Amino acid sequence: MAGPYIITIASEKGGVGKTTLATNLAIYLKGLAEDLPITLLSFDNHFTVDRMFQLGKPTPDRHVGQLFNGIRADELTQMGQYGVGYIPSNSNLYEEQQQIQGNDSLAAAINRSNLSGILIIDTSPVLDNYTCNALFAADRIIVPIKDAPSLENCRHLSDFLTRNQRSKSLLKILPCMIDTRIRFEGPFRNSYHLLKAFAINRGYRCYEGFISKSPKVETLSTNPSGRIFPVITHARSTEVHLQLSHLARQVYIEYLDSGPARLQEVATRHEEEDARQRHLYRERVARLEPGCFCCGTPLQTEEIWPNAFYLEDAATSRCGFVEGNCLLKMLQEDFYPELNGNRQLLQEFLSGPVTSGYLLLRERKAGPGMGMYDLYLLDREGERISGRSIEISKTTSDVTDAKTMSIPELFSGLVAPETEGHRLVLMGYGGKKPAELLKNQNYLKWQKVFDRVRIEEIEEQSELSPTRLA
Ligand SMILES: Nc1ncnc2c1ncn2[C@@H]1O[C@H](COP(=O)(O)OP(=O)(O)O)[C@@H](O)[C@H]1O
Ligand SMILES: [Mg+2]
Repeated sequence: MAGPYIITIASEKGGVGKTTLATNLAIYLKGLAEDLPITLLSFDNHFTVDRMFQLGKPTPDRHVGQLFNGIRADELTQMGQYGVGYIPSNSNLYEEQQQIQGNDSLAAAINRSNLSGILIIDTSPVLDNYTCNALFAADRIIVPIKDAPSLENCRHLSDFLTRNQRSKSLLKILPCMIDTRIRFEGPFRNSYHLLKAFAINRGYRCYEGFISKSPKVETLSTNPSGRIFPVITHARSTEVHLQLSHLARQVYIEYLDSGPARLQEVATRHEEEDARQRHLYRERVARLEPGCFCCGTPLQTEEIWPNAFYLEDAATSRCGFVEGNCLLKMLQEDFYPELNGNRQLLQEFLSGPVTSGYLLLRERKAGPGMGMYDLYLLDREGERISGRSIEISKTTSDVTDAKTMSIPELFSGLVAPETEGHRLVLMGYGGKKPAELLKNQNYLKWQKVFDRVRIEEIEEQSELSPTRLA
């Protein structure tokens, strides 16, 4: 089923009339098409929507923030006054916004729901994760502007759309809070004409008409009942009533003329992307070496294998796992002989990378037959936490146990011999299944860290190189 047609009201200025427009537009649209489900939500943390539409008791556990927690949008929707459905507001959105990943979470969440008809989204003046998600999901973006600076700000919205491969023509400008008593000499008679000319000049599309500044409308939110009254019931005598009717008609026609809703488009893209990711994942699993690089213990991708590390040689694309115990032995013997075999200490030392970070092992050229090896502990982002370098012989190793490899042996057995400056970024996975690490999100993070390591090396080299100044 196609999801709802989504109208996002956005403008990076506060007090331009976004919330007033969103709430009243919902009622005027309902007036035009009684059978059409209209739903409203606001990512602004004031409770205007609730104060206007709430019928029963507030429901603190059902609010807009939960759209990102997997709860279906239709389960969050309450039937409100005037036949408009609404999702209750929430005052703690700011703290929770870090959890939102990507700009398409909202589109995906609404797509999973049974919402239909038109969904109107009111946003805050900040281009935060909520606003970005609301812009990304939109079939239409209405941008109220009240003066030249608010029109200039529209560029940020337009840039966002461009960055996300969405058309700038989704934006439509609506001059709001226009004081028609102020008149200009010349071709632009008032600020509406002036703003419209500015907007068209900058390549934006505009709605016909505008919304006047009206003292009557301003008082609708201040009255002893604590409610906020709509224009249609409490300011019917003002020109704003006519203006909103006219706007609602334009918006409704656009809805009727709209092609497949945006959500359908997002859903199709998601399916294609999912299929591609599943394919890449299967390829990665198929490429894995059959056992631990050091001891050869057979790999069980679907079994929990504590303390193993994933690694990949970029030059040969060989990839696989090293058991935690093998790695610890190697590091201990080659890098930390002073620990005198105290595995516990080394394990504690490595506990960060084992569960949530990375280890970087690097080979550099030293004297003949010798290798210089660096070990760095990296945090989740690939930032170096600490490190140590050693210089040891490439041929002889202090083998105390037949199964133990030395660091030079690991490199010579694994990486392409002709590549210089081998580097291995090892990804630890505390308690996860090996296959889990190769899932898209985790693998992407590993790739990002690997790229960062290489970029940092290039920078280091250029700092050392005297030709840099030439
Ligand atoms: N057409 C209008 N005429 C006069 N005052 C208005 C009008 N529209 C909104 N207001 C008032 O302006 C203030 C800001 O409006 P609001 O819709 O909350 O803007 P935003 O959501 O962009 O911050 C509110 O006090 C509102 O009552
Ligand atoms: Mg607002």
